[in-house]
Amino acid sequence: MSQFDFDQRLQRAATGAQKYDNRKALFGRDDVIPLWVADMDFACPSAVTAALQARAAHPIYGYHLFPDTLYQAIQAWYLKRFDWQINKTDLMMCPGVVPSIHACINALTEPGDGVIVQPPVYFPFFSAVTETGRKLIENPLLATENGYRMNLVSLAEQARHAKLFILCSPHNPVGRVWDEYELRALLAIAEQTGLVILSDEIHADLLLAQSQHTPLAKLAAPGQVITAISASKTFNIAGLNLSSLVVPDPAQKQAIDAEFKRWHVSAANPFSIVATEAAYRSGEAWLDALLDYVEQTRQQVCAFFAAQMPFIRITPIQGTYLLWLDCRALKMNDNALQNFWVQQAGVGLSPGSLFGTGGNGFMRMNLAAPRNMILQACQQMAEACEQLRYQQQS
Ligand SMILES: Cc1ncc(COP(=O)(O)O)c(C=O)c1O
Repeated sequence: MSQFDFDQRLQRAATGAQKYDNRKALFGRDDVIPLWVADMDFACPSAVTAALQARAAHPIYGYHLFPDTLYQAIQAWYLKRFDWQINKTDLMMCPGVVPSIHACINALTEPGDGVIVQPPVYFPFFSAVTETGRKLIENPLLATENGYRMNLVSLAEQARHAKLFILCSPHNPVGRVWDEYELRALLAIAEQTGLVILSDEIHADLLLAQSQHTPLAKLAAPGQVITAISASKTFNIAGLNLSSLVVPDPAQKQAIDAEFKRWHVSAANPFSIVATEAAYRSGEAWLDALLDYVEQTRQQVCAFFAAQMPFIRITPIQGTYLLWLDCRALKMNDNALQNFWVQQAGVGLSPGSLFGTGGNGFMRMNLAAPRNMILQACQQMAEACEQLRYQQQS
């Protein structure tokens, strides 16, 4: 038996948790099983809590530096887990991945320049491009029988009219862990066209069923790839807002740094620093147990859907704790589909339409919660479908 109790139900309602306390505003009722926001309903590693408590015990929370030990913890983690040697001088501490995307766009492109994204994808990618006055170029993923793929043919053409490409690796919401062949093909396009790639690898640690994540930068030349990394998803500390960019090109690094300085924002928060360090130093056994737990949940959910709701197809995933459900057989528009799951099933999912082109008729379901809660949600969804079938027949 695992030494970690992922079955434990922790009360999150009325703690300010977005996933729980925003239900009324978003779904119109506050009793849905919330499987939407991409954080986990599991306690983070106990070493993280202990480090936070120890830091809190010192009653001065003034301006902070980033200690060498933080850099070392990040470097050691990536070397061990991905055989990726990150130079300290390439690492920039940032107050989150989404702000880093905005900073990179501002620093590396001009208003009107093309920025490519691959929908269906994490929706802040779109707003990061449009809100900074850049031109959004979409290269939709190809949905095949064997899962999603990048459309490298259209990308080769689009890359001629773009400065930056934002890769989601692994890909939220479709759960793809890109293989080395695809990543090398992407880099070949970047090399031919001068395209710079910003690789958002926030989900890199969340690998299911023996999948292997390859950091794109490991395969690339300096200047081709900037990588966004964070312990936030991995260890369920996203509310602490610390991430890093790996920027091997000094001129790019200087330009991005200037962006953050212009906004006068810093990631030097004493709590996020100790939490991240503790997670990387002491959280490995917890993470491995977590991944086993989520994978078992995924298998049970897939088996349940296959038996009870075979008309809803579950996209095979290799990474993330997010399932991408193809609900098009229900033949509902996106509003009706969302309403159906909320009102009839009492389950709060993320509508696929949020993730742009290719998302209509899909829903994203978060699996990172105690298994009996996830299975309860599945049961309620199956009952809602049964009810619908009954109504349609009568
Ligand atoms: C691909 C991706 N990037 C970034 C984020 C959020 O990063 P941050 O909270 O550090 O801004 C998420 C959260 O779901 C995500 O899925």
